[in-house]
Amino acid sequence: MDFSIKAFDTKNTLAAAKSGCIAVAVYENKKLSQAAKALDQGGEITAALKSGDITGKPGSTLLLRGVSGAAAARVLLVGVGADEAISEKSFASSVSAALKAFAALGSTDAIIALPMLDVKARDLAWSMRCVVMTATEAEFRTDGQKFKKDPAITGVRKLTIAADGGAATKTLLAQAIAVANGASLTKELGNLSANICTPTYLANTAKKLAADYGFDIEVLERKQLEALKMGSFLSVTRGSEEAPKFIVLKHMGGKAKDAPVVLVGKGITFDTGGISLKAGPGMDEMKYDMCGAGSVLGTFRAIGEMGLKLNVIGIVAACENMPSGRATKPGDIVSSMNGLTIEVLNTDAEGRLVLCDALTYAERFNPACVVDIATLTGACVVALGHHNSGLFTRADDACEQLADDLLAAGKQSGDTAWRLPISEAYNEQLKSNFADLANIGSPGGASCTAAAFLENFTRKYTWAHLDIAGTAWKSGGAKGATGRPVPLLTTFLMNRV
Ligand code: BES
Ligand code: MN
Ligand code: ZN
Repeated sequence: MDFSIKAFDTKNTLAAAKSGCIAVAVYENKKLSQAAKALDQGGEITAALKSGDITGKPGSTLLLRGVSGAAAARVLLVGVGADEAISEKSFASSVSAALKAFAALGSTDAIIALPMLDVKARDLAWSMRCVVMTATEAEFRTDGQKFKKDPAITGVRKLTIAADGGAATKTLLAQAIAVANGASLTKELGNLSANICTPTYLANTAKKLAADYGFDIEVLERKQLEALKMGSFLSVTRGSEEAPKFIVLKHMGGKAKDAPVVLVGKGITFDTGGISLKAGPGMDEMKYDMCGAGSVLGTFRAIGEMGLKLNVIGIVAACENMPSGRATKPGDIVSSMNGLTIEVLNTDAEGRLVLCDALTYAERFNPACVVDIATLTGACVVALGHHNSGLFTRADDACEQLADDLLAAGKQSGDTAWRLPISEAYNEQLKSNFADLANIGSPGGASCTAAAFLENFTRKYTWAHLDIAGTAWKSGGAKGATGRPVPLLTTFLMNRV
């Protein structure tokens, strides 16, 4: 979709606007929004509401042609609920309904003139994102690997958003587009099959982003990882024929001496479980085990596109988790980059094994804070379902502040997280007789013991962990990556500028 903003006023009236269609809001109390009134010189809109052809319920629509008070070919009435105090949910469903109607039109351009400023407890930034994200999501394609393509996108391709035309509003639009494009990249990478989306593919994607947006990039190969003594990460890739890639992206948008925010993504491009092999049903979904990495790349696309004035470093630890004659076996003991040895009691708890070395590597950047993002535990899906990402951190003041900032960014963007605990008690569950740590905990609280495991490697900086196992993709008929938590992460970074 091609988006733009236009301000309509007494000189540049909505009534005189030439367009294939103008969407305006009506209410269940039979009142018209300001924009609807502006087009109702001939009384057609009032009449349509009176007749009961449209109820005004959120998401109800009625297409009118030949409205005498409008120069536009069509006027789309969109219900937004009871009255002028619009709920978030009602606004979102009215936006969806308007875009759906636009997609079925015989014209290619339209104006969306909904009451963007009237959403309860939300601001223009939110409404703008709602419109842009919904439109971008609606045209997201999943037929990239199909020979027989899905039906082509029809209807409106140029969308004008009626809002004040100031520079601040234009910036809001550009930011919303950047976030939507970032989330789209994350979705694309997630949905790609694992025979295509290999660690090398992720590295090439990162290189392309670096070229497009001017990031510094470094891709560390197996030899370099060996030299760094990343024995834990390397133990996961042992069973695979695919080369591991350790990707470091740098967006230095802030002052040279400002400490960077570091994002660390779990990039298991396929998780079979290794020798602790997973069960067959649904195993295909383990192609999504790189969604943490995908969200780092998507967030970089977003901040690159919006030219965010902040120093951000992205680390992606990418490899496959495969069984083979050379694969790590249950009981094997490996040495992590920070020296701690780990007894690999279950080769399916591999995410923490790649992340711990990436978290140690992050120390070298003297980070302002580090956030890791990982499809880490099935137990997180049990605990939180698909609504909230799990958020973990230590209880010290700096980490508490970071957790608050991430929770707030989640609420602001609608990409929510929920706090879960880490404490010494969970660390106790990770005791091993033969190594410093076991890679799985004694039964109970598997998401918390996973987070506690990571905590051991993050004591030199302020850190938080996002478990996105339940939020990164959808299963069933609507199977597909969601692009989460790109909105949360991007909002968090934007709030720090
Ligand atoms: N990638 C999985 C976690 C996962 C499973 C995410 C299902 C989403 C859906 C992770 O590597 C894993 O296998 N974790 C194990 C840990 C266990 C062995 C302690 C799990 O959650 O079962
Ligand atoms: Mn696993
Ligand atoms: Zn995994």
